[in-house]
Amino acid sequence: MKFHIMTFGCQMNVHDSQWLTAALESRGWEQAPEEEAQVYILNTCSVREKPEQKVYTELGRIGVYLKRDPNIFAAVGGCVGQQVGKAFFSRFPFVKLVFGTDGIANAPNALESLAEGAEERIALLDFVDVYLEREVPQDASRVEHATRQAFVNIMQGCDNFCTYCVVPYTRGRQKSRHPELVVEECRKLVQAGVREITLLGQNVNSYGLDKGGVGVTFAQLLHMVAEIPGLDRLRFTTSHPKDIAPEVIRAFGELDNLCPSLHLPMQAGSDDVLRRMGRKYDCKRYLDIVKSLREARPDLSLTTDLIVAFPGEAEKDFQQTLEMVEQVGFESSFSFKYSDRPGVAAVKMTPKVAPDVAADRLLRLQNLQNDITRKCLKKRVGTEDNVLVEGKSRKQEDEGVYWRGRDSAGRVVNFRFDEGVDLEGMMVPVRIVVAKKHSLVGERTGEPW
Ligand code: 5AD
Ligand code: SF4
Repeated sequence: MKFHIMTFGCQMNVHDSQWLTAALESRGWEQAPEEEAQVYILNTCSVREKPEQKVYTELGRIGVYLKRDPNIFAAVGGCVGQQVGKAFFSRFPFVKLVFGTDGIANAPNALESLAEGAEERIALLDFVDVYLEREVPQDASRVEHATRQAFVNIMQGCDNFCTYCVVPYTRGRQKSRHPELVVEECRKLVQAGVREITLLGQNVNSYGLDKGGVGVTFAQLLHMVAEIPGLDRLRFTTSHPKDIAPEVIRAFGELDNLCPSLHLPMQAGSDDVLRRMGRKYDCKRYLDIVKSLREARPDLSLTTDLIVAFPGEAEKDFQQTLEMVEQVGFESSFSFKYSDRPGVAAVKMTPKVAPDVAADRLLRLQNLQNDITRKCLKKRVGTEDNVLVEGKSRKQEDEGVYWRGRDSAGRVVNFRFDEGVDLEGMMVPVRIVVAKKHSLVGERTGEPW
């Protein structure tokens, strides 16, 4: 069978799609371009805006391929799959499978039995209250490891119910994975050549604090993974500030391979808005965390998520967000206009901020962020670091061959390397010579390793 996967949303979805790809390939299925596929898989996201609409548009487009092959069918997974569920079946008769976060573990078998015609339609929408282990695809190494970077799930779901967020409804309650299984997967990946691992969870800082916990905290898990011989880089995402333990902060100073970068969603810089978001920290607490982090790791690069125009956000609240962004000096941020999501508490909060005011605030915030990003990148000029190469640089400059990779904090670095060597997955020591708007240019200073 030839299949085509489309992925929207977060790193967890990206990772889920990689796993699904490997699981189908180990059943002899083949990835194919859109025009040739027999099975379409949409891995969807509903955290913001009108993602449902986007899924309907995509399905409408795919429906056209029925003319080429009346037997093609589609599967919708991820957060929209979970939310809309079986309603997809009546609206799009060629959708034969819907699956959610917990259902994905059985999606490969379900797809196989649909392709064989053994079943007409399958819905995998039940939540379970333990972390569901997934099969290990035979050739998992091939898909994920070309760049020698890999993601490893450590938990599913979220228990926080921030008032704007749909995640607890689409991904269910928090369930931690057994630490030994996490470490075993990481060890196998490193043995297969992986150099960089990102531990994934909706809120990794509360790892282990649910029914699936066995007394191992996130800080302990970080130590266990960091100790795997041959692991050059360890990252994790995402963190909730309210749950970050002093031991995790200290780990940034203790573990050499723990990368000097942290994504710490602040969401807003007004205590009043934070309270109504249900975030359970205030600006002072956030700044205290930042201070301790920088004491532990002075070169730490901080990035964040921000929401503007949350219901009731006044201009003075927004000004406080701008002040906090400036004070913390985030290297970069993802910023969004608040949008109502079905079933979340903030839907009922008023007054809603007018769309033109929201758009203006987003623009002002992003302008400020661009200035700060530029300053942070400029500070890198003259420093030295290793770049883990992800591939050839998209823009080939006239005077040579350029490669693109990431420094230890995850910044994009392009550098010239003319010798006809394939550098993908190699570490190359560089000195930063130029700061561009969103990336850096380096000069190689040593041998690739
Ligand atoms: N509106 C706007 N942004 C949102 N996010 C989550 N829910 C919403 C919403 N309803 C943002 C948050 C979160 C990121 C993944 O998406 O900033 O951290
Ligand atoms: Fe959503 Fe809050 Fe959970 Fe993050 S911590 S997934 S924002 S509910």
